[in-house]
Amino acid sequence: MSQILDTLTRIEEESEKEIAAAATLSEIQAGRVRVLGKKGSLTRLLIAMKDLSSEERPVVGKAVNALKQRIQELIKQRTVELERQEQADRLKQERLDVTLPGRRTVRGRLHPITRIFHRVEGIFEGLGFHIAEGPEVEEDYYNFEALNIPPDHPARDMQDTFYITDDILLRTHTSPVQIRTMKSQDPPVRIIAPGKVYRCDADISHTPMFHQVEGLMVDRGITFGDLKGILEIFLHEMFGASTGIRFRPSFFPFTEPSAEVDIACLICGGGGCRVCKDSGWLEIMGAGMVDPAVFRMVGYDPEAVSGFAFGMGIERIAMLVYRIDDIRLFFENELRFLTQF
Ligand code: DAH
Repeated sequence: MSQILDTLTRIEEESEKEIAAAATLSEIQAGRVRVLGKKGSLTRLLIAMKDLSSEERPVVGKAVNALKQRIQELIKQRTVELERQEQADRLKQERLDVTLPGRRTVRGRLHPITRIFHRVEGIFEGLGFHIAEGPEVEEDYYNFEALNIPPDHPARDMQDTFYITDDILLRTHTSPVQIRTMKSQDPPVRIIAPGKVYRCDADISHTPMFHQVEGLMVDRGITFGDLKGILEIFLHEMFGASTGIRFRPSFFPFTEPSAEVDIACLICGGGGCRVCKDSGWLEIMGAGMVDPAVFRMVGYDPEAVSGFAFGMGIERIAMLVYRIDDIRLFFENELRFLTQF
């Protein structure tokens, strides 16, 4: 009997240590099986009791039951402790600081070229012009021939024009939209045509793709005075009401007479500087009265109607408005550049 009681003492000591040392719920569970399980040390002792005398049995039975209860109590306590600790650990891990400021989403903004397009369109829409469009992959006929540009004209040179086949090309200007519009409707016409154009050229002021806005107004009795008036309103809206404007005689195959339109240099105000190459003036667009040959091409009667046309480069205007000296910045998509607008 004393041997059994010794064993009980040993089991008690070991269990106490084991339970106190258990670091997880599953370690506790394993300990419980080792002592109280079907083949556990305490269970085996209970079975061994059958060999004891009837006086000894109640004494040992009491001791075993007491130990069993004590161990169960220890396990319960340790389990509660571990459960609390696990919960505390989890809370610590999943902790959220709800007072932190939220992450801002980066907001996109309109490209400077788009912004200038919108301004130009807004001004001309206010003057009663509609927006017209045409394809960027264009036929030689619309890009050159119908615009009275003869086959040997330097503008057709392979160095300027991206040809796709002998008579399909990337349009070199927005002027073909004039032809497409007049061929599809009768006068009166009052349109602007914004869009991309392509030329085989690249340096600080040229990119292979750039943007233009074309304008066309056709009706009975349209004069050069109407052209001047409309463009003056536009340029004063765009660059400020006090901006000086001048028309210089020029030549385009599709207009007669033709002019180039200058504004007083925005940088020096006309005194002369690097940007205007000391002339005091900045060339801003081409314009003129629609050539009768063009009217005949589209089936309009040049005796009955007259009109004017103009075309301008959007990058050039954007460079002047935003004071940018390298056209390539518009196409590099550098965010530090784009977020300034
Ligand atoms: N298409 C010309 C160019 O790209 C610009 C131009 C000049 C357009 C005179 C016109 C115009 O409509 O009348 O250089």
